[in-house]
Amino acid sequence: MNFIDLPQLVAAGGSVRLPGSKSISNRALLLAALAEGVTEIHGLLVSDDTARMLEALRALGVACAESGEGRLRVEGCAGRFPVRQAELFLGNAGTAFRSLTAALALADGDYVLRGVPRMHERPIGDLVDALRRLGAEIDYLENEGFPPLRLKPASIGPGRTVEVRGEVSSQFLTGLLMALPLTGRETAVEVAGDLISRPYVEMTLGLMARFGVRVARRGWQSFTVPAASYVSPGAFVVEGDASSASYFLAAGAIGGRPGAPLRVEGVGRGSIQGDVRFTGALARMGAVIEMGNGWMSACRPPEGLRGIALDCGDIPDAAMTLAITALFAQGETRLTNIASWRVKETDRIAAMAKELGKLGARVEEGRDFLAVAPPDAGHVLHPAIVDTYDDHRMAMCFSLAAFGVPLRIDDPACTAKTFPDYFACLEKLVTAAPVIAIDGPTASGKGTVSARVAKALGFHYLDSGALYRLTALAAREAGVEWTDEAGVAAVAAQLDAVFDDGRIWLDGKEAGEAIRHESISSGASKVAALPQVRAALLFRQRAFHRAPGLVGDGRDMASVVFPRAGLKVFLTASAGIRAERRYKQLIDKGMAVTMDSLVQELRDRDARDAARPVAPLQQQPDAVLLDTTSMGIEEAVAFVLDLVRDRGLAAG
Ligand code: DC
Repeated sequence: MNFIDLPQLVAAGGSVRLPGSKSISNRALLLAALAEGVTEIHGLLVSDDTARMLEALRALGVACAESGEGRLRVEGCAGRFPVRQAELFLGNAGTAFRSLTAALALADGDYVLRGVPRMHERPIGDLVDALRRLGAEIDYLENEGFPPLRLKPASIGPGRTVEVRGEVSSQFLTGLLMALPLTGRETAVEVAGDLISRPYVEMTLGLMARFGVRVARRGWQSFTVPAASYVSPGAFVVEGDASSASYFLAAGAIGGRPGAPLRVEGVGRGSIQGDVRFTGALARMGAVIEMGNGWMSACRPPEGLRGIALDCGDIPDAAMTLAITALFAQGETRLTNIASWRVKETDRIAAMAKELGKLGARVEEGRDFLAVAPPDAGHVLHPAIVDTYDDHRMAMCFSLAAFGVPLRIDDPACTAKTFPDYFACLEKLVTAAPVIAIDGPTASGKGTVSARVAKALGFHYLDSGALYRLTALAAREAGVEWTDEAGVAAVAAQLDAVFDDGRIWLDGKEAGEAIRHESISSGASKVAALPQVRAALLFRQRAFHRAPGLVGDGRDMASVVFPRAGLKVFLTASAGIRAERRYKQLIDKGMAVTMDSLVQELRDRDARDAARPVAPLQQQPDAVLLDTTSMGIEEAVAFVLDLVRDRGLAAG
């Protein structure tokens, strides 16, 4: 599976233009398709969910053509889709599925609507019941109450009142309201039960009005849709997506320095999207929020963030972002009235609780609430591999946990549902903890130099060779041959290794000495040549990339593990001098060796390391060469520290 590894992030700032709002884009597309006249839509979101809606509208015979950068020209069909028989695939796009179900059920064609397997687990019975009461003919093709659906020509009765339930998804009411003008009769809608996600209904009403249909209402209980038709407003501009804004605003609240906030462009004061209220929640957590027309910004308060209790009924999507922000707040954050999370792209309450648990957060999960707090005093977040459940919002909100700990996020491409280049945007706005990559051949002195540089800077130190050595040792103890690639990779993936202030532990036993034996050196070089073993150790190495910074030493630090290191050093020395250094070490340990054999052995190993197909030892084009043939340790350390300072990689 595809993944993205995030180092620990230490700061956020700058400005980002948001992609168009998904909710507005899909509503505007449908309304433009149903309207009389041509609508030019500006700033439409380009994503999976909008692509599904567009494909469906085109399949229904609506002409939609790109008319310039970010512009789409939709020729409305004046309430009657030209194509009367079609099978539509709507992926996992709830906004498209629900609203098209309503619009097509009240039309006079024969349609089949399908989605991905998860879409077939998301309830739609409340909407179908309401549509049937109006005269729609709808069959469930698999399970009662769930897609896929078959819609046949409706026989609409005289104008009347129809009831729809409001507590599972507001998209049922939205779909119904947008479709009712197609009946040509005035119809009243009564909402049964408590209506959730009300701002989305407000948005629906606002957009219907832009297309000429004004709905009369009594609070959130009753809505009367007149016998009117949609008329194109001509041009229509889509606001930036307020739910997508939540990730960047939270990044600003967590890592934006006072006076240097993170700013989002495209949505702000006066927005018709309910999720702009997320800023109110962040402000209650203490974040410094500012906004104007078409922009908002956030930065961290000097005193830090604090946990809050919040009814999230109005902002269910952006509330997921609060669950991660909670990791950086003092005390507990309790998000209530979020039962709808359970029927979204995945069961988001269960998914959140499980993944937050992997990081070591304190989590309490209930039927309709989630409480999150950072780890207890004296504990820190653990690096973890986060599953995203094919849920764009899981991937996006968990990226923020990287402010606490390095993470691997599985299937980051799932953000394509609403924000295809989310991770590329995020990367431009955040600063990772610095990393210094020091590669070089055996006995070049890079281990000693790296450890000293790390100490001088107060950085973490990764001895990546030790991981290959530990893998060789653990494989031998488990009776796995060093040539058994899958077997050794499994051992590497399970490695119970602890690095603690220069000491190394394997399975609870100190192993610092054992891994330096010649037989293990030879085993390490064998297992290090196996691609699956290298892959199994990759995230474990990247998990060392924490604040305040890291010095990593090995063979492929600069090329594979930390290709974006702020400083790359290729530390080497002549084979003769390296053999001499190794000779001294071995003689000190009382081992019998000859210089000639050592020089030959080093040359052979260098050649093997440099020639192997995976992660060969090679100086990277952007690495600084440090030849220590005639240089002492102190001098080498000073050389690296100078480079670190020149590049501004050390704090202070
Ligand atoms: O640096 P060292 O001698 O402790 O490394 C032990 C073995 O692991 C050595 O044969 C090279 C290999 N290694 C590697 O392939 N990639 C690294 N990043 C570090 C070490």
